[in-house]
Amino acid sequence: MTTSCKITVVGSINMDLVTRSSRFPTVGETLLGEGFNQFMGGKGANQAVAAARLGAQVDLIGAVGDDSFGQELLANLRKEGVNTEGVKTVTGQSSGLANITVAENDNHIIVISGANFCLTPADIEANEHRIAAADVVMSQLEIPADCVLATAKLAAKHGKPFILNPAPAQKLPQELLQLVTALTPNAYELAISLGLPENTAAETLISQTPCPVIMTRGSEGAMYVDENREIRSQATYCVTPVDTTGAGDTFNGALAVFWQHDLAKAVKYACAAAALSVTKAGAQSGMPTAVELNDFLAKQSQ
Ligand code: RIB
Repeated sequence: MTTSCKITVVGSINMDLVTRSSRFPTVGETLLGEGFNQFMGGKGANQAVAAARLGAQVDLIGAVGDDSFGQELLANLRKEGVNTEGVKTVTGQSSGLANITVAENDNHIIVISGANFCLTPADIEANEHRIAAADVVMSQLEIPADCVLATAKLAAKHGKPFILNPAPAQKLPQELLQLVTALTPNAYELAISLGLPENTAAETLISQTPCPVIMTRGSEGAMYVDENREIRSQATYCVTPVDTTGAGDTFNGALAVFWQHDLAKAVKYACAAAALSVTKAGAQSGMPTAVELNDFLAKQSQ
């Protein structure tokens, strides 16, 4: 597999404050936890790192605060080879934070947006050249909605594929959906994106979406519509999960990297990358390099 492509990510950058416990507490309960770690995160930053690890040339457009977390987050992105010239530092604002509990092979996340919500459509427009230069443009919903729309419009203006990961879930305007090349929700996020009941069948949701959908299904892999409008499934890979935080972001980063391959292959590689990502603690620690992904896929086919 070759991975030389240019990706521009417009999205959030967070410091993840992660508590591990044997189970989730019930409402009103105080629980003694098992450990605490601070990890680099944020859906935009995670997707950027996932793509960079796989060999893509990545530009990130976003915002951090002028606090110590902001400096650490920027240093980490640079260490990972992500170009941060499109990331602004907001004076007097704290960086985005995520309060994460990991338990029962899953997680609960509360995000405090901080500087992420200081990003404006004018910032996106000031970075138009990064969108114009990309092979693939991607975003998520941890930044203001008008920034996501501005990104989608610029991607369309320059004829670039626009992958939107609609997380955290919110109802999406038709104007935005019409500009999306691939929407990558889980079933819950797709129902909320369309304003439909949460228990609507996956096939119904996919058939009612005005843009192509690649639905992530956790331990069941992914579901997508192929070039002939047929619904296809990609099984996931069997791994022992340590921390599922960032699995969706890894899926998206890998999908963007392999977007120029055929869709079935891109989804397969994205599922494999996501499976590897859950084998280590923290959103970014388990994201594979291209060599690690190749080795993993080669072992699966033996
Ligand atoms: O998708 C995982 C990410 O969601 C975490 O890194 C956290 O920062 C939140 O944005």
